[in-house]
Parts: sequence; structure tokens; C-alpha cells
Amino acid sequence: MVTSERIFLCRDESSALLSDALHKSTHSQDAMDQLKVTKKGFYTKLVDISSYKIENLSITLQDSIPEDTVHETSLHKKYRNYFHIGAAIDGNSYRDSHAALWKEHFNAAVCENEMKWTALQPSEGNFQFGQANAMVNAARSNGMLVRGHVLVWFDQTPDWVFQSPYGGQASKQLILERIRTHVTRVMQEFKDRVYAWDVVNEAVVGYDANNQDVGEDLGTLARWGYRNSKLYQIAGEDHILEAFKAAREADPDAKLFYNDFWNYLDGKREFIISFVKKLKEQELIDGVGLQCHLNISPAKEKLSNQSAYQTVDNLEKEIKVYAALGLDVHITELDISIYTRDYTSDDQSRWYMGYDLNEDYQNRLAARYKDFFDMFRRNAGKIQNVTFWGIADDNTWLSEFPSGRPDHPLLFDKHLKPKRAFDAIMNFDR
Ligand code: XIL
Repeated sequence: MVTSERIFLCRDESSALLSDALHKSTHSQDAMDQLKVTKKGFYTKLVDISSYKIENLSITLQDSIPEDTVHETSLHKKYRNYFHIGAAIDGNSYRDSHAALWKEHFNAAVCENEMKWTALQPSEGNFQFGQANAMVNAARSNGMLVRGHVLVWFDQTPDWVFQSPYGGQASKQLILERIRTHVTRVMQEFKDRVYAWDVVNEAVVGYDANNQDVGEDLGTLARWGYRNSKLYQIAGEDHILEAFKAAREADPDAKLFYNDFWNYLDGKREFIISFVKKLKEQELIDGVGLQCHLNISPAKEKLSNQSAYQTVDNLEKEIKVYAALGLDVHITELDISIYTRDYTSDDQSRWYMGYDLNEDYQNRLAARYKDFFDMFRRNAGKIQNVTFWGIADDNTWLSEFPSGRPDHPLLFDKHLKPKRAFDAIMNFDR
């Protein structure tokens, strides 16, 4: 560990050099917010600094493998100077024909469904950790970091949570107690193996003037607010606070995240920030998870659709805004659908039925992935983890949700071979 206030900042290529013998402090005039540290024989690191207040800056230098990343063929190794690269796994993929790909290209993992409330506590007090433990242990024994997904969510939560043992609806106090018990027991189980948790997921939606959820069509949007879930109806915003408090107490070493989609919409993000800031002031949150279920291009013909705002610039803005609040940023559920959102997914005449993705789609998907990853790398000092929602196209939730329309959103195809999108994000020099 090198901690120093005597760092020589060079202006060339907005980078700074930490020499073997640290130079005396010299400040140039222009503000810089990222420090690039290079030291022979070590990984290059990008570190965020706030203006020149670098007296508390600490940088950990890790030995590098003296290997040429230009010719690197493993995705996570290629990205070792940037961020961790994760994949969602299910009860099969971590040990079936996908396992080799998973181990080769990823150094982080998350369970796609196996850590949700329905899976871990299907009935009250009946904790089922077997499946999740097997997956987490497989990831850990392959040297991967594990994200925990998810402790409190309106979906995939069993009905008993909302029921009183005496019939009727559970009281607010009971819901909060159940949240605390669930969060505590689950986090204790995975302590020292799961480094970051999505504590609360998808608690924000848009409403029209009649207080109806507008979904993704923003034409009638009047305001953003908390999702009117049973959790919210019964316990209000306290369910979020209770979840984070219980999580912090259960494992003070774990990184705690709020996870959601469409953060590129200014209004939604501003609403999220309104409560995330309060959590941050109480030191109950460490970061935000940006889901990033994206589309091959923004909805050009339907500008009221949320996806019309799904541009690289808007995503870059959301990353910067959250990082400026002192939050870690994880891209938690990345996939890029080959469909745009100009039309409904039920329109079977527009489904792509080929087993393999044709040239045109391959190229468009590759270009979109490249644009996003170029931007992610530019912001590597702000992003710690980029996780794909799956490994290969033969096993993606998007081919089931919302209509059964076949999709091809990942880096590897149905033969488990790399697509052009894979080549596109591997093609950069250090
Ligand atoms: C999805 C899984 O991928 C599906 O297998 C399951 O049927 C439904 O949930 N946002 C989330 C994830 O936070 O938990 C969801 O995962 C995808 C959207």
C-alpha cells in the first residue's frame, strides 16, 4: 500500500505518474478528477480524486502478470485494469457446458434467481441455502467475487410475507420484522463470500395524473415515485430504510447497493437520488446498481418510450452523477436485446426466428456493445463491476420475458461461441 501526499501530477494525456521514488508534490493549475497510476511491473490503475484533495489518497498496487493484454483472449483478464466482469449464473450453467466459458471470461458472479426471497425463504423460517451455497462456493473456488441479488424486491417474494398469521394482511411492524429477519439471516449465511448486495431492487416507477403506473410509455408521465407494491402499501418507504439498516448490521464489511433500471431517465434518477442521498448520509449505502437491460438502438419511432433516452451519453451521465455522490457504480444486469422498443414484443411478424444471428444484427449489436464499453472504460475509475445477465444466448431471460420472443442479447451465441459483439469489446489496446 502506498499512501502519499507527495504525488507528481503530469498533465500529459490527463494522466499522472507515480514514480518509484515519489516526487515532491507539484500541482498544475487545471482540475483533474482521475488519476492514472502506472508503475513498472504492476497493473495500471485509474483512481478517482476530488480536485487536489489528495492527502488521503491511497492506492494499492497489485503485481501484474507480465503479459501482453493486446493479445489477451479472456474477457475479464483483458479488463483487469478497468473493472470486474461478471455473469449471472443459474443452477445449471455454473456446472454444465457453460462452465468452461464462465470460468474463462468472468471473474464475478451473481445468482440469477437462486438468492431471491422465494428461493431462500419459501415459507416463514424455512431457509433453503443449499442451491445458492453450491453456486457461491463454485464461484469462490474459481476466484470470483460474488454479488448477492436480491434481499428486498416487490417481485419473487412469497405471499406469506404479506400475510398475518391470524388471517388478513400483515401489519407494518410485522413486515419490517420479516425484512430484518430475512436480511440478517441471509447475509450472515453468505458473510465473507458475498462482497456486495443488492439490498433493495426496483422500488421506483412513473405515474400519470391518475396515479397509474405508466410503465415504459412516458407519454402521460406526471411524476416519479415509489412503486405501489405490497411492501410499500404496508410499510411505506420505511421498508427500504429497514432493509439497509438490517443489512449494515448483519455484515458491516459488505457493500450495500440500491439496484434499478432506466437510470438514464433524469426524473427517475432524481427520485432515486432523493432517497439514496438520505441513506448515504446515514452511511447505510455504498453504491448503486444500474441494471442496463438495453436495446440494440433507442426507440426511434416512439419517442415517448423510455428507450428513446437510452443513449451512451445519457448512460455516461448517470454514471458520473452517481459517482459524484460518492457512490460505487456497478453495471449489474447488462444485456442488449436485438429488438427496439418501437413496437410490442407480441408482434410475431417481427420476431427474429433464425437460430444464428445474421450479419446485419451481429454488426449492429457489436457496434452498440463497443460504444457502451468504450464509455465504460473511459469511466473505469467510477465503475467497479460490469455484470452480464447470463452467459450465452441459449439461456437468456429475454427469450422468455415478456412474450417468448427469441432474443440474442449476450456476447456468446447458442453454440457458446463468441459473437462479433465479443470481438468488438475485446478490441482495444491497454
Ligand atoms: C429475472 C430472471 O432473469 C428470470 O429468470 C426470472 O424469471 C425473473 O427475473 N431485473 C432484475 C432481475 O432485477 O432479478 C430479473 O431477473 C430481471 C430484471
